[in-house]
Amino acid sequence: MKDEQYKSPVFPKWVNTLHGFVLLGVTLVFLSVTFVFWYWLGPKHLEVGYIPKQPIAYSHKLHAGDLGIDCRYCHFTVETSAHAAIPTTETCMNCHSVIQSGSKTGEAEIAKIYASFNEKKPIEWVKVHQLPDYAYFNHSRHVNSGVSCVSCHGRVDQMEVVQQVEPLSMGWCLDCHRAPEAHLRPKELLTKMDWKADDPIATGRIIREAYQIRPGEDCSTCHR
Ligand code: HEC
Ligand code: HEC
Ligand code: HEC
Ligand code: HEC
Ligand code: HEC
Repeated sequence: MKDEQYKSPVFPKWVNTLHGFVLLGVTLVFLSVTFVFWYWLGPKHLEVGYIPKQPIAYSHKLHAGDLGIDCRYCHFTVETSAHAAIPTTETCMNCHSVIQSGSKTGEAEIAKIYASFNEKKPIEWVKVHQLPDYAYFNHSRHVNSGVSCVSCHGRVDQMEVVQQVEPLSMGWCLDCHRAPEAHLRPKELLTKMDWKADDPIATGRIIREAYQIRPGEDCSTCHR
């Protein structure tokens, strides 16, 4: 065979260069689509601001904010276990067996509590925050070290409907584990959502010393 350039019987020569441009174009489109999916649909952007539809229009702003009911009245296991309990219908009934709503829409929502109670069917709340199974988290370890709900869940007492405000990514966990000072407070102020130290870092240093806080950074702290 001679060292001869291949000549297409169908396409003229300039098509070869065009082919190159098309290929480049396709590659660029492919890369940007991949990037957009990876960036916007990656965990961080998928979960922050996540607000599922709940079976009852329960308002944290009304109950925890305006009425000032402590978080631990309903999420009563938060200081003793890994998970914060979601209240049962009975907890709602402690008040709503007697408390009605002033409005028609409120009444219809409270009727759903009665239905759940009478039919002995638990209210099927939809989970908002969800770590993957391979990551281990423990509420009691955090709240007993003086890390308030507000550091990880935001101003829930101002939310009509709870939504996720932090990415819950590994980088987010580690940022605080490396330098927790700004998030530490006396345990007594755990659920005071509007509390802020005048000098958070200085206060945090004192508390870190007093509680002997050393958050783990080893993989086995959170992957076990
Ligand atoms: C009167 C009961 C009650 C009180 C008080 C209360 N909660 Fe809740 N909380 C609920 C119920 C019911 C749900 C499940 C429905 C929902 O997500 O809104 C819930 C859900 C949540 C969730 C989302 C859980 C998930 O699925 O990921 C967070 C976070 C939360 N509460 C934090 C707080 C904080 C912080 C406070 C105090 C400022 C508080 N709650 C006070 C009843 C309560
Ligand atoms: C250091 C961060 C952090 C703090 C502090 C914190 N939470 Fe959470 N919370 C989380 C994470 C992460 C999840 C998701 C846990 C999972 O999926 O295993 C969660 C989930 C929840 C849930 C859903 C049930 C569960 O345990 O999965 C409730 C309810 C809740 N938190 C309430 C609270 C309340 C009330 C406080 C304060 C008394 C609080 N949290 C403090 C990070 C935190
Ligand atoms: C400590 C007492 C208390 C507990 C516990 C409690 N509530 Fe309430 N709830 C109230 C009060 C007070 C009102 C306001 C009634 C009014 O409109 O005057 C209210 C109002 C409501 C309303 C009507 C809101 C509106 O638009 O009028 C709904 C729905 C509701 N609660 C759901 C729940 C659910 C679900 C639970 C359990 C997870 C619960 N509540 C637990 C005291 C409580
Ligand atoms: C706002 C600060 C903060 C954030 C955010 C945070 N942590 Fe922590 N974490 C702490 C502190 C403080 C401790 C307590 C360390 C101690 O007592 O020495 C702790 C302790 C722990 C422990 C117990 C450590 C042990 O040695 O047994 C685990 C597990 C843990 N964190 C996992 C997580 C995971 C997973 C996330 C993210 C989803 C997370 N943490 C986010 C501050 C934080
Ligand atoms: C303070 C807690 C914490 C520590 C320490 C930690 N991880 Fe993670 N890791 C997480 C959480 C939470 C996730 C889930 C993140 C998500 O869903 O976006 C995760 C996710 C991962 C993933 C899945 C891919 C990804 O990036 O989302 C890998 C792999 C991983 N971790 C490896 C490690 C290794 C290796 C170490 C030790 C060098 C380590 N982790 C230390 C909390 C931690």
